[in-house]
Amino acid sequence: MGDKTMRLDRFLTEMTALTRTQAKEAAKKGRVTVNGETAGKTDIKIDPEKDRVFLDGKEISYRAVEYYMLNKPAGVVSATEDGRYPTVVGLIGDRKRKDLFPVGRLDLDTEGLLLITNDGDLAHRLLSPKKHVDKVYEVRYEGKLPEKAGEELEGGIFLEDGTKCLPAKLRTVTEGENGGEALLTLREGKFHQVKRMMEALGCRVVYLKRLSMGSLKLDESLSPGEYRPLTKEELEELTS
Ligand code: URA
Repeated sequence: MGDKTMRLDRFLTEMTALTRTQAKEAAKKGRVTVNGETAGKTDIKIDPEKDRVFLDGKEISYRAVEYYMLNKPAGVVSATEDGRYPTVVGLIGDRKRKDLFPVGRLDLDTEGLLLITNDGDLAHRLLSPKKHVDKVYEVRYEGKLPEKAGEELEGGIFLEDGTKCLPAKLRTVTEGENGGEALLTLREGKFHQVKRMMEALGCRVVYLKRLSMGSLKLDESLSPGEYRPLTKEELEELTS
């Protein structure tokens, strides 16, 4: 059993907007209580799982890690902060921690599955090019795919700038004279990859949605902009 205690200043800086200096000041001014007693100093040790910490009368609960599944809507950036657009992290109204980030990026106009967490190890494992985690996208496009598009993708196509892609899988859902819908499975995440792959095949993506990432599947009951915590099972599968 490891030591579960932590310093009060660390607890406050992790779980509130306060910096370490501000946390110290707040404690000095009597704004912080631990188990009902005013904590004048922040260099004391607390047990984040047992001790009850209040700042300005509001209880601060501790969470070491958080995991949320978001159905990203179009018009929101995959970032923690942005001067122009709302961010995916900003959509997580229930978040406790301030160090959450999206695991990978979806373009501004792309919708679908995005994992939001502060678990850097998991993010690394899911994003590492060496791990080849499958990502499935629903793609609607304009244009006509070549007859051998599936084979070309399986062989690893070249993007227009000469970059070679890893093998990808194409499953046609509908196909018309000037457009269609397909499911595309990739094992890497280059910048604008789906759009550039489709361009290399002579088509233009008009709608893009991520359906899954490894074992994690988008919960279709989430409308764009909605999110929920991962279930225990989802998390176990993802980390196993
Ligand atoms: N490929 C793209 O082109 N855009 C995304 O958002 C994700 C994959």
